[in-house]
Amino acid sequence: MANDAQREVWNAQDVAETWPRTEHISDPGTAPLMEALNLQPGERVLDVACGGGKTTLAAARAIGPTGHVTGVDIPDGMLALAKRRQAEAGFGNIELALADAQIDPFSGGLFDAALASSGSCSSTIRWPH
Ligand SMILES: C[S@@+](CC[C@H](N)C(=O)[O-])C[C@H]1O[C@@H](n2cnc3c(N)ncnc32)[C@H](O)[C@@H]1O
Repeated sequence: MANDAQREVWNAQDVAETWPRTEHISDPGTAPLMEALNLQPGERVLDVACGGGKTTLAAARAIGPTGHVTGVDIPDGMLALAKRRQAEAGFGNIELALADAQIDPFSGGLFDAALASSGSCSSTIRWPH
């Protein structure tokens, strides 16, 4: 199956436990990502490989309650962390889905923009209206 190696690495038992101590390496990339995307209220956003959901929350904050963010990732543990953070933030405009972004279907409809955050190695897409 596609991405077996990634699935194995990110589903390893201790990753979800250690991730909160290491994910700060991605933090410096969040503000430039948000600046590059220039998200607007009401937009629909896809966060590919959302991890613990920090960029998912940043996008949700930018698009506000009329927008929607779909965050997808492959390990249960990472999504559980993202879901805890979503609940703590009280954001109802986020859907977090267990999905391989390359091959699995997921809901969310048409997106205005997508992001994939990995610190200094991040990407954005903005589709024309
Ligand atoms: C370096 S972490 C970055 C996580 C998060 N975006 C951040 O900036 O904190 C890489 C993430 O990519 C996810 N990933 C790898 N391959 C994937 C795929 N095919 N579909 C969805 N997520 C994937 C991993 O599970 C992991 O959470």
